[in-house]
Amino acid sequence: MEIFDQVEKLIGEINAYPISNAEELEQFRIAYLGSKNSIKPIFGRIKDVPNERKKEFGQKVNEAKQTAEARFKELQSSLKNAGTSDKYKTFDPTLPMDGEWEGSRHPVSIVMNKIIHVFEKIGFEVAEEREIEDDWHNFTAMNTPEDHPARDMQDTFYLKDSKSSLLRTHTSSVQARVMTSQKPPIRIIAPGRVYRNETISARSHCQFHQVEGLYIDKNVSFADMKQTLLYFAREMYGADTDIRLRPSFFPFTEPSAEMDVWMGTDTDATKRLTKGTGWLEVLGCGMVDPNVLKNCDIDPEVYSGFAFGIGIERTAMQKYEINDIRLLFENDLRFLKQFSSAT
Ligand code: PHE
Repeated sequence: MEIFDQVEKLIGEINAYPISNAEELEQFRIAYLGSKNSIKPIFGRIKDVPNERKKEFGQKVNEAKQTAEARFKELQSSLKNAGTSDKYKTFDPTLPMDGEWEGSRHPVSIVMNKIIHVFEKIGFEVAEEREIEDDWHNFTAMNTPEDHPARDMQDTFYLKDSKSSLLRTHTSSVQARVMTSQKPPIRIIAPGRVYRNETISARSHCQFHQVEGLYIDKNVSFADMKQTLLYFAREMYGADTDIRLRPSFFPFTEPSAEMDVWMGTDTDATKRLTKGTGWLEVLGCGMVDPNVLKNCDIDPEVYSGFAFGIGIERTAMQKYEINDIRLLFENDLRFLKQFSSAT
């Protein structure tokens, strides 16, 4: 019967359809699988087929349809593969590099790594902790009373409107984490990011970095702290660097001090940096308050210790003569490319 021949012809056509690119494949799809495909009208002629052959005819038309679908899938995936292999043909992994910039350390990382290295040399170990803290580790354990201004909503970023989940305001929270999980002697250095709800300007930011130090053992004295910090200053700023300790206050240390490093007043830059005094403020420190030890289940009758917190941004800004703290957080390549990739 002529109509059977037509289906047969159609199947032949589907099998022989030349396809070598995506466009031809799309034409094939429209011709045999689209809504106006050429299989449909042939099937419509089933009414002309005598009843006893209708089933056979239906099967034949189905075969045409399935052939088209199978061919489409097969061609689609072979075209896709051809695309990839083409790409690999033009990619030669043995070619020499074109000398592109290979990245560099961020100034904050350079300074942080340097500080870590200085303390590692005298036996401090790095302790890293969470940036999302609870109120206890950030404030309560650190002997910061309920009504201390640092707890104010203005300074602290609280999470989910809660008073207990917050972004740590200082790395001193790591002191509490370490003292509640390790037994003395403790000698750690804790670098990391901290957050305060401050107006962003050239001098201050809502995020910055600190390196915390904590040393707890029997018979640790203020003199031990002073000597450790002098060693640090000389490693950091040069062998004949002088330091001074000014009395200060922190809820978690008693007595407390701030350490300045002598920069001199010889140049305009050092004058500006030290506001004419020659002294640059570098860190806060002090003997760990007995209340803090008690809060962390360490007996203050047996153990004592010192702690300090170094601000990284300020040190980096001084070292690289960066006059706007915001540059450290913008990731502008023109700025970052100026630093070496070393350390
Ligand atoms: N946590 C203090 C601050 O952020 C710094 C500090 C750390 C002071 C440890 C004393 C001891 O300013």
